[in-house]
Amino acid sequence: MANALVTGGAGFIGSHLSEALLKRGYRVAVLDDLSTGSRENIDHLQRDPSFEFYLGTVMDYEAVDKLVSRSDIVFHMAAAVGVKYIIDNPLASLRINTKGTENVLEAANRYKRKVALASTSEIYGKNEKERLSEDDDRILGSTTISRWGYACTKAFDEFLALAYWREKKLPVVVLRFFNTCGPRQSGEYGMVVPRFVKAALMGHPLRVFGDGKQIRCFSFVDDIVEGTISLSEHAAAVGEIFNLGSMEPVTIEQLAQKIIAMTNSPSDINYIPYEQAYEKGFEDLHRRVPDIGKAKRFVGFEPKTSLDELLRKVIEYFES
Ligand SMILES: NC(=O)c1ccc[n+]([C@@H]2O[C@H](COP(=O)([O-])OP(=O)(O)OC[C@H]3O[C@@H](n4cnc5c(N)ncnc54)[C@H](O)[C@@H]3O)[C@@H](O)[C@H]2O)c1
Repeated sequence: MANALVTGGAGFIGSHLSEALLKRGYRVAVLDDLSTGSRENIDHLQRDPSFEFYLGTVMDYEAVDKLVSRSDIVFHMAAAVGVKYIIDNPLASLRINTKGTENVLEAANRYKRKVALASTSEIYGKNEKERLSEDDDRILGSTTISRWGYACTKAFDEFLALAYWREKKLPVVVLRFFNTCGPRQSGEYGMVVPRFVKAALMGHPLRVFGDGKQIRCFSFVDDIVEGTISLSEHAAAVGEIFNLGSMEPVTIEQLAQKIIAMTNSPSDINYIPYEQAYEKGFEDLHRRVPDIGKAKRFVGFEPKTSLDELLRKVIEYFES
């Protein structure tokens, strides 16, 4: 039975990942400071004797070192996440996403434990290529725009992980998640699907930022978790970067219309200028669609859940 450490395991993706790892026979330890995660996300796992929760931060090197020493593999999900959260908490976010990751990689290197690192499509910045592939350029805005701090820290994490691999032979796998959704995702930090579903169910207006013509692809968390575990277990994936996401594009305006129709909601759509929604000078990108061919070639990754199914699951979650 392998021992997995999931940092950020009380968060949205981390809790689903922990659940899936337990089902596969791993023993799972979670380290989370509950800053954006919650105990409710992992309540149902606490009864499992193979599951342990540690309240703490990845900023605490000793705590990280101790837990890594007892693990065979580390899934590093802990991070400051969400455009709104990053803009509201720039300093803490930058520190957690750099120093926290360095602590995890350093401890993993000490015991030579494999690390699966959560990165993000945000690192492509304003590159609006039809399908973004792993070696495409990153096009980022000015450092005066807080949003790009998240992309920079995650890119730094990738550089750091790859440097540990090249110089120290620490086995790492980098996973660039595109917009991922499902039950337990909080809308509080600016995530669009839970925000829209909650508003539609309450009959409140759906607040679309900008003109709503931005194109995104939303994938279901179980599909992303499946890809994450498969790649973490695949020897040839070590030292590589993978996009994980869906390739079903939708505009944010269409997403809002779909959610209103699926919930039979009387809600209207309100268009909010970016400056009002976020901050002065905020920059967004028109299109973000992944090329997932590499993950498919390595482990047969293929998202199984359509956008409609995904939305139905999120609606059911909020209704219950
Ligand atoms: N959800 C998405 O669409 C998406 C997209 C791209 C990348 N990601 C990445 O996936 C990972 C998980 O994101 P999520 O969507 O589940 O967000 P989340 O906020 O639900 O999960 C992050 C978890 O990390 C914990 N955490 C934050 N700072 C910590 C610290 N200092 N020490 C310990 N725990 C800490 C939080 O409490 C939370 O439980 C993140 O690394 C994120 O950057 C997510």
